[in-house]
Amino acid sequence: MTRSPLTSLAEKLLEKAKALDAYNESHGLPPASFEHESFIDVPLELEDTRKAVIDLAQDVKRLAQGPRDLLFEILNLSTDLANLHFIYHHRIPQVVPPNGAISKPSAAKMIAAMQKYPSSGEPNETAFNLAFNTSRSFYQELDMEPERSRRFGGAMTWVSHGGQFSTEHLAQGFDWARFDHEKATMVDVGGGHGAVSMSIAKATRKLRFVVQDLPATVSDGARLLPTALKGRVSFMPHDFFVEQPVKGADVYFLRYILHNWSDKYAQRILKTLVPALKDGSSIVCCEFLPGDRSTTSWSKKQPYHMDMIQAIGWNSIERTSSDWARLFESVDPRLQYSGTRTPPGCSVSLIEARFCAGPAKNM
Ligand SMILES: C[S@@+](CC[C@H](N)C(=O)[O-])C[C@H]1O[C@@H](n2cnc3c(N)ncnc32)[C@H](O)[C@@H]1O
Repeated sequence: MTRSPLTSLAEKLLEKAKALDAYNESHGLPPASFEHESFIDVPLELEDTRKAVIDLAQDVKRLAQGPRDLLFEILNLSTDLANLHFIYHHRIPQVVPPNGAISKPSAAKMIAAMQKYPSSGEPNETAFNLAFNTSRSFYQELDMEPERSRRFGGAMTWVSHGGQFSTEHLAQGFDWARFDHEKATMVDVGGGHGAVSMSIAKATRKLRFVVQDLPATVSDGARLLPTALKGRVSFMPHDFFVEQPVKGADVYFLRYILHNWSDKYAQRILKTLVPALKDGSSIVCCEFLPGDRSTTSWSKKQPYHMDMIQAIGWNSIERTSSDWARLFESVDPRLQYSGTRTPPGCSVSLIEARFCAGPAKNM
């Protein structure tokens, strides 16, 4: 008798799960459990095994569910959102993660927003606006509420440490030595509390960093900056829709910035940088890249989940490599797109364009 797909998948799953357990055991780590987080900063081969476990477990579950139960599960997700809201509202400390924010009522308003604002690229015509009954954009709301702004900045720092989104990947997976010389500067545009700058500062010796963000965010960032980095990392309030005040920096870095903005606004943000660029300056963005070379379906799907989140919160998108090429080209023909790079083990990519001074055309 041929083995059923369910058994065969379950056997593969068992084999991979044993490999994960064996890694923990051979490294003196406790077995994976619901009591603590496991598999942070594991070697690349093991990360592939971990992701294979996620894919296989998902397939086993779906085969066992069949289409009816799967549809019910999807339907039930909306009730999970309501539950999370309840847990947050009642401040149930055992469940709410210490550094995270979990309210997601905007997701439920996506269809209503698409009907009310068809094809809008405006940041204040979104599901978020309907859910929170506000005409201000997400970041305008945050900037008016210091506690929410502090929590959001803290969450960005939290996702920066450990695992596939660690800033370590960015610090180690890019040729920062190119810029690591006396007087070289990186401007971390919309840099939040400075998690990226701090990591790159630790991986370099001379490069200096200016972290720019909205006033409430930079004042929290400056307060939290470790003393050891005070000589090389500074904070500056700056609205990235206004001309860039730090002229002639070597790198203008934007992590998780442009994905929050539709093309019209992303172009505006990039245009504010152009008068500051010198010959050879780089603009480096760090974003999810749909359609990259991820090996498992779980990791392939992540950029698309994020794409939905951009649509819900900002009427924006995650851009593919060719979207990036078009975006830079539309801002200024002197911006030469040099492609994308995904550091090993990292789930986001670095996207770079270099400024080549010379006669500007079609501006
Ligand atoms: C998704 S967070 C990314 C933060 C940081 N780059 C990181 O990767 O941790 C987007 C950031 O853009 C900032 N931001 C939003 N609107 C801005 C504006 N008009 N000018 C400057 N910063 C802004 C927010 O305050 C927030 O810190």
